[in-house]
Amino acid sequence: MMKSFIQGMPKAELHVHIEGTLEPELRLRFAARNGIELPYQTADALAASYDYNDLASFLALYFDGLKVLRTERDFFELTYAYLQRVHAQNVVYAEMHFDPQAHTSRGIAFDSVINGIRGAQDEARQELGLRSRLILGLLRDMSAESAMDALEQSLAYRDWIVGVGLDSDEKGNPPVKFRDVFERARAEGYNLTMHCDHLQDNSVEHIRQCLDVIGVDRIDHGYHALDDAALLEDVRRRQVCLTFCTTSPPSNPAPRRANELKSALEHGLNVTVNTDDPAYMRGYYLNEVLLNTQQAVGLSREQLTQLARNAFRSAWITREERGEFMAALDAYVGGT
Ligand code: ADE
Ligand code: ZN
Repeated sequence: MMKSFIQGMPKAELHVHIEGTLEPELRLRFAARNGIELPYQTADALAASYDYNDLASFLALYFDGLKVLRTERDFFELTYAYLQRVHAQNVVYAEMHFDPQAHTSRGIAFDSVINGIRGAQDEARQELGLRSRLILGLLRDMSAESAMDALEQSLAYRDWIVGVGLDSDEKGNPPVKFRDVFERARAEGYNLTMHCDHLQDNSVEHIRQCLDVIGVDRIDHGYHALDDAALLEDVRRRQVCLTFCTTSPPSNPAPRRANELKSALEHGLNVTVNTDDPAYMRGYYLNEVLLNTQQAVGLSREQLTQLARNAFRSAWITREERGEFMAALDAYVGGT
């Protein structure tokens, strides 16, 4: 019953890395096409090799996986596969991070990356009616100069990108390291978000910097906002969207941070549920992550609806789009 309610609900995803949707089958196909040797020859063997126990070991897999992406066609097929899959789950809108520095540092042109992704977005809009937008993900373990370069390269595609985010390894790389880059991004008219991941050092301080120094519009993850009463109250009062990812690592199907999600809802925070890197997180896309979370902590229909509402409310879309999505959600909830 909850399963069909979740499946049928019109939903938005605000936190997914397109490179993190690289399923083992696609990775094998791109590797073969590009003449790249992989250590495993079947999708099952590749999937079985995906194990990690912290952000650093996850990122090692993620950056290794994306090396098979070389051509515009690869980026097109990667993105179209993701959009097709989530369309089948009644996702009506997706905001996708992409990490250009992870590609330009391997000699792949920024243009190939973004043209491939954009081609798939256009085709999904036409063929499936699915709308999506792009977030420029900057790698925080690289220098601020490198981030500024990537930002400047993005300006040729200003209309194709709706916001700027900060991802990769948070340890020793606080939000303030990128103060100038994000100030410039704001001046260029981009929306701003940053990862404040889980189990990182100085999490409360990083969320504070996001709010008070950077002036972000959203925070990716941000679970540790619950750790500090004053911060919690500030996040609640400002209704900053937190894009929680109650995903599961390969070694354990239990959703991470499900209790925090329920608590955030009960505190009236503007929280959403997202999939982050589904190909590395058991292949669970939005419906599976939502159902798994619902089952773990017993979310009500009202709470599930609130999650969808929060996502449409916090998406970087036009007033008209927001009105349309909210009306579709209201009609769905009213009719079920
Ligand atoms: N890049 C891709 N996925 C990420 C995550 N969950 N945290 C930080 N950087 C990432
Ligand atoms: Zn992420």
